[in-house]
Amino acid sequence: MNSVAAVAHPNIALIKYWGKRDEALHLPMTTSVSLTLREFPTTTTVTVRPDLAADRVTFAGAPAPEAFAERVSRFLDLVRELSRDRRHTAVDTVNTVPTGAGLASSAAGFAALALAAATAYGLDPDPRALSRLARRGSGSASRSIFGGFAVWWRGAGDGESGDLSSFAEPIDAPLLNPALVVALVDTREKAVPSREAMRRTVATSPFYPAWVEESARDLDRMRRALGEGDLATVGEIAEANALGMHATMLGARPAVRYFAPGTFRVLDRVLELRAAGIGAWATMDAGPNVKVLCDSRDSAAVAAAVAEVAGGAERVVVTTAGPGAALSGSGHR
Ligand code: PMV
Repeated sequence: MNSVAAVAHPNIALIKYWGKRDEALHLPMTTSVSLTLREFPTTTTVTVRPDLAADRVTFAGAPAPEAFAERVSRFLDLVRELSRDRRHTAVDTVNTVPTGAGLASSAAGFAALALAAATAYGLDPDPRALSRLARRGSGSASRSIFGGFAVWWRGAGDGESGDLSSFAEPIDAPLLNPALVVALVDTREKAVPSREAMRRTVATSPFYPAWVEESARDLDRMRRALGEGDLATVGEIAEANALGMHATMLGARPAVRYFAPGTFRVLDRVLELRAAGIGAWATMDAGPNVKVLCDSRDSAAVAAAVAEVAGGAERVVVTTAGPGAALSGSGHR
């Protein structure tokens, strides 16, 4: 049996993806920019099994929750359609993200699954096609195909033209040596899943169109700053873009609020660090945890400062830039 394993890492967006213009194809409203991390790999093994009547989805050998298994199986339907191969598979996923770490494992998971499944079904996609495929599993997974900084293009138009033009690619930033200090404020499951929160924001928030417009300007400035190695500008844009995204959610009806009391304490600490001359900028995703962007040389000082905030973070994890998705071993068994 042909068994293929692939490994991929989570990414954190510095210009956020928030809102779809096509729910089925996962076409985003805006272009986003992210940093792929070196830590917390996900390894996914795909074994094509002619003997199976349905896909078998496991987490480190144990049956996966039904909703997740459904999502994986729908993704595999797409791979089967592309490869014209109707056989089912056994999929096993091993995550190393600490539970509830506030680092979405879906980006790493679907990037690894896209590569392993495409290879197992003989598709041999180029990086752009692989990124488009990963996008269909989870939007942010399109970016985890690549290491370091990546841009996921919104793409032009709808339907097939949107599908063909919405992919991620790497951004060169040879002068930067970034770290992200992850402050875990609250690791319980979020009240509103990001898919529902996005939908509600796009449909009801009067602030959403303004954020979309600003995001296009953020993108131009961010790409220039990455090329020039200007971490201060990268950080300022990232912080403003993320807080702006959360403002669109606060404007939704009913509002979506991911801020917790500890979130504000950590955000205050980041302001204090900057006032003290340390380059540190905050970003947040669909949850209360704060990720602080800084230069790798400052990460220990930033982590220590954030860790000592009373009533702030429960735990602090330092992460750095990492590689794109890769095969981790394949063969015939
Ligand atoms: O593709 P998803 O459902 O993991 O979307 C994630 C959205 C944010 O994490 C909030 C922002 C982003 O660009 O990753």
